[in-house]
Amino acid sequence: MKPQVLVARNVFPEVVERLREHFEVEDNPGDRIYTKAELIERLKGKVGAFTTGSVMIDAEVLDANPQLRVLANMAVGYNNFDMAACTARGVLCTNTPDVLTETTADFGFALMMATARRIAESEHYLRRGEWSKWFYDMFVGSDIHHATLGILGMGRIGQAIARRGAHGFEMRVLYHNRSRLDPSIEASCKATYVGKEQLLREADHLVIVMPYSKESHHAVGAPELALMKPTATLTNIARGGIVDDAALAKALAERRIAAAGLDVFEGEPTVHPDLLKVPNVVLTPHIASATVATRRAMADLAADNLIAALGFGPNAGKPPTPINPEVMKS
Ligand code: GLV
Repeated sequence: MKPQVLVARNVFPEVVERLREHFEVEDNPGDRIYTKAELIERLKGKVGAFTTGSVMIDAEVLDANPQLRVLANMAVGYNNFDMAACTARGVLCTNTPDVLTETTADFGFALMMATARRIAESEHYLRRGEWSKWFYDMFVGSDIHHATLGILGMGRIGQAIARRGAHGFEMRVLYHNRSRLDPSIEASCKATYVGKEQLLREADHLVIVMPYSKESHHAVGAPELALMKPTATLTNIARGGIVDDAALAKALAERRIAAAGLDVFEGEPTVHPDLLKVPNVVLTPHIASATVATRRAMADLAADNLIAALGFGPNAGKPPTPINPEVMKS
């Protein structure tokens, strides 16, 4: 009898077939969003689970399923896992870094440009049939080239955005991060480390790429927005909850900053109603990594992790991207 695993959301059928070579798979082709009680029930008897960022795993879910050994998240972020609870119970967690870096950076740059150059706002105007003549200040925005790019969170994706800005658009790149990067990485990104306050004050375009945690909750709220230039833009491709969406909607409505581009939201897929009312924000439904090739690479990497962590395939016992490898030693 093969070990049992749960694939908690609908994914590429080819990837589910790969998992079936090693496991009894309960999949979710109807893509139901399980309640916590349902998730607990469906995990019964399963030693592993293939999850996405919407599948919340906490101590209660784990305690109801002490047989669970491995959680393979199809996302680089893993704030849907209570990592302390997983590690304490010896549950190995994996994520999908690297394979989405360049794709996500492309999207972050695109969202920043759409925000600065008012692409969504002007498109909506055109579709409403309001375009009757050219005028000199019609949808004037702010330049990207030679402007100051401020990156909050300088991991792999932040660095990839910095490279695009510095080398492609000759931007001045400032960054703030928990720790300062190695000088060779700073040089390759042409990026200068500054304090958070200086970053907020000097950025023409602020891009948020830091991970979500209790510590980064509302890292950008009313006091931080108040430091930004009235001409500045803010782009968030990291996680909902890092920006205080209510405070941001107010700042946008009062034009205390020029515009925002948001791919992630507090409480998504619900979006703060005030954000839907302001014109100077570009809103996208958490799609920064969404290209066919990258989503497939993420699904394959999550499957590789699950297969290897449960002792199968060519990398048996050596999952490529563990988050808490310390549990493998115990
Ligand atoms: C997407 O948000 C991810 O974490 O991969």
